[in-house]
Amino acid sequence: MSSLREGPTTVVRREDYAPPAYWIDTVELTFDLDPAKTRVLNRMTLRRNAAVAAQPLRLDGEELNLARVLVNGAGCSFKMDAGQLVLDNLPEGNEPFTLEIFTTCAPEKNSQLMGLYVSQGTFFTQCEAEGFRRITYFLDRPDVMASYTVTLRADKARYPVLLSNGNLEEEGPLPDGRHFAKWVDPHRKPSYLFALVAGNLVAREQRIVSRSGKEHLLQVFVRRGDMDKTEHAMQSLIASVAWDEARFGLPLDLERFMIVATSDFNMGAMENKGLNIFNTKYVLANSATATDTDFANIESVVGHEYFHNWTGNRVTCRDWFQLSLKEGLTVFRDQEFSMDLCAEPSARAVKRIEDVRVLRTAQFPEDAGPMAHPVRPDSYVEINNFYTVTVYEKGAEVVRMMQTLVGREGFARGMKLYFERHDGQAVTCDDFAQAIADANPDSALARQLEVFKRWYSQAGTPRVRAEGRYDAEARRYTLTLSQHCAPTPGQAVKQPFLIPVALGLLDAQGRELPLPESQRLVVLADASATVVFDDIDSEPVPSLLRGFSAPVVLEYADSDAQLLTLLAHDSDPFNRWEAGQRLALRRALAAVRADGPVAQPLDAAFIDAMRAVLRHDTLDAAFKELTLTLPSETYISEQLEVVDPQRVHAVREAMREQLAQALHADWAWAYEQHRDNGAYRPDPLSAGRRALAGMALTMLCLDARQSGDAVWPGKAYQRFKDAGNMTDRFNALSALVVSGHALAREALPRFHAMFRDEALVLDKWFALQAGAPDRGGNILPAVRQLMAHPDFQLRNPNRARSVIFSYCNANPGAFHRADAAGYVFWSDRVLEIDRFNPQVAARLARALDRWKKLAEPYRSAAREAIARVAAQAELSNDVREVVTRALS
Ligand code: ARG
Ligand code: ZN
Repeated sequence: MSSLREGPTTVVRREDYAPPAYWIDTVELTFDLDPAKTRVLNRMTLRRNAAVAAQPLRLDGEELNLARVLVNGAGCSFKMDAGQLVLDNLPEGNEPFTLEIFTTCAPEKNSQLMGLYVSQGTFFTQCEAEGFRRITYFLDRPDVMASYTVTLRADKARYPVLLSNGNLEEEGPLPDGRHFAKWVDPHRKPSYLFALVAGNLVAREQRIVSRSGKEHLLQVFVRRGDMDKTEHAMQSLIASVAWDEARFGLPLDLERFMIVATSDFNMGAMENKGLNIFNTKYVLANSATATDTDFANIESVVGHEYFHNWTGNRVTCRDWFQLSLKEGLTVFRDQEFSMDLCAEPSARAVKRIEDVRVLRTAQFPEDAGPMAHPVRPDSYVEINNFYTVTVYEKGAEVVRMMQTLVGREGFARGMKLYFERHDGQAVTCDDFAQAIADANPDSALARQLEVFKRWYSQAGTPRVRAEGRYDAEARRYTLTLSQHCAPTPGQAVKQPFLIPVALGLLDAQGRELPLPESQRLVVLADASATVVFDDIDSEPVPSLLRGFSAPVVLEYADSDAQLLTLLAHDSDPFNRWEAGQRLALRRALAAVRADGPVAQPLDAAFIDAMRAVLRHDTLDAAFKELTLTLPSETYISEQLEVVDPQRVHAVREAMREQLAQALHADWAWAYEQHRDNGAYRPDPLSAGRRALAGMALTMLCLDARQSGDAVWPGKAYQRFKDAGNMTDRFNALSALVVSGHALAREALPRFHAMFRDEALVLDKWFALQAGAPDRGGNILPAVRQLMAHPDFQLRNPNRARSVIFSYCNANPGAFHRADAAGYVFWSDRVLEIDRFNPQVAARLARALDRWKKLAEPYRSAAREAIARVAAQAELSNDVREVVTRALS
């Protein structure tokens, strides 16, 4: 079996978009499901698209065995061309005709997990973006929408549950122990939203009545032993349905809405109409097996896929360049959902900080590297490579800026207009922005829509420089903002972006100065702008880009004193956190740039400020935990021209150890204050307490490593043994592993033995070890050992990620080795995985995106490793695109 697509790689360009030559109105699919050989009968009605010139019908197909083709019931001539099935003797005129195609495929051999595949004896599909063509020949593009009727036939004992999109019309027995189910989807849809599931599953069920009084059946399907881990997903789904109705007036449009979990999945989850398919990681949770982070992720991914029902399914993408139309908007919606579910405003801010942290540690580097692309890309070789943090997270920021510019009500109006105009259509990012602007004709967005839309067309992270001047005599403060964006591949010169800068001014005591509303949001639309604030009695401390109002890098030469004021007093929690990050970053960069061995990078003022945060009597625990977490190695590295990853690692570790030691008594206090033993609830407030207690425990164990103290590691081990939930248990284990204490060697096997049958927990066990701080090069050998463990499975994406990605993508201090062994390991794994799962391999291939920034000897060694991958003759388009761009 070879999954490698050979032959010339073709570049697909946005400007080449042409409407389809044919429409497909109806599709009747009949499946005879068999893991070795599944037969698919695809009976379609088609008609010519009268709006375009007559041309042959070209249907996409991949790894299919074609048995027969009938047009209007009779045999016909056809040919194969570049994998496509081409029919050119079709009936004249614009009358509908029927086309029947019989094919077979081999689901059990489908290791790419695209199209129809088998996972643990159950059939699943994944069709986005171009997987449907691996099931049958089709116009596999999102602007072709059809009505689907699907009949599934399979052995009843092995596959008692047969699911597809829409409503179950009919089911019953067949000869030879087989049975069938017939599903009809009442909504037209593009092929990427098709799904089927067949297997031995059980469902948690819940009937709900929506606002309009309609009844709906919600179901969460899992393997038999996992039923006790479905409640949270169901509650999240119920909350999602209610939220979309309440916030956007968008109801559930189906009688039945199903979620099915699979342990073999390339991504997070998929919004197939009425039949969402999820990675188990984003469904299964109970307090014994899942952490607070897992609970929060499940809520947000369940929400995300549910919200796609409107933003993605009812209104879909014209072509894949418009992916952010649905993904950016839906990420924005899931972020808002999670925030709206927070009872306290402070928890909203915590969510915002977490989202921004993802953007800045993952998307900013992408935007500055070889894979940089606009939110709406202009070209691709493999569309799967463009399911990126840029399309998703930066795309969400673009939507958020629209909301900032037109206000919350204005944005809701815009959404309403968007659905009035485009329900049932396949549209573009321009259509979306136009609807929001048209619903708010007096807004800055509408006035400068063309400038705003550069966020869709230009890649790169703009840098905004701010300069303040205070004139005491005139009691006037003048703020000058200017912007600049560095070139990205294929875009040498950038036009100015439209940048909403939310701001406030504080006096030296940290009191907020009253400003008129118009001055609290400055819209920068040109290369630079000057804002004048009058009646200012003393030099103010500016609080700029509040709430991270635009995805930019802010350059402002604030003094330590100003940052300390913001950290202590800013009413904007995001900027309060950001002030702490800037203070820490400044110290990290100074220590990285200094000569000689790494000394103690932190000064008393910084340590005192951190103590004040930790001991603060009104701040939330979650906020404290975020503020006391130092900027990541990746984030620090991004600020440097040339990166010595070992130096960055050493500096950050030194800072952490210094905080551990200097705040010892405070950490001990924090641990005792925040470790509670009450009943487990995954709400943000108690999750924040657990997070802070967990951090305190890690710091205390780190400090014990230096002092030789045995008490705190002992307490951590005790906590590990008798914790009442996975969050506390895992945090205690992690404290031992991260501090490198000998007790970790007892705790790790114990943990494994406790959870040997819980795949998702074992993933954590693997990831913790592969991601642990490197001490004298010990992690790579440990990773090799983990790969030899009987529970390691390279073909299971979650497991492969838990070891290989945790090492290559999330553990820079261990991965970047002076002897290049990390890079050699990386190239071996990329090539090995590419032979059976190009999508996962291409993600891993991204680990060396930023190689050009590395100092020697890392830089040359990294280039050599990438070149080694690129030199491979048999490479998927996915990996080829990534490594070619990296080397260019
Ligand atoms: N649309 C899915 C989501 O909600 C992602 C599916 C991506 N799948 C893929 N093979 N590229 O984000
Ligand atoms: Zn999505």
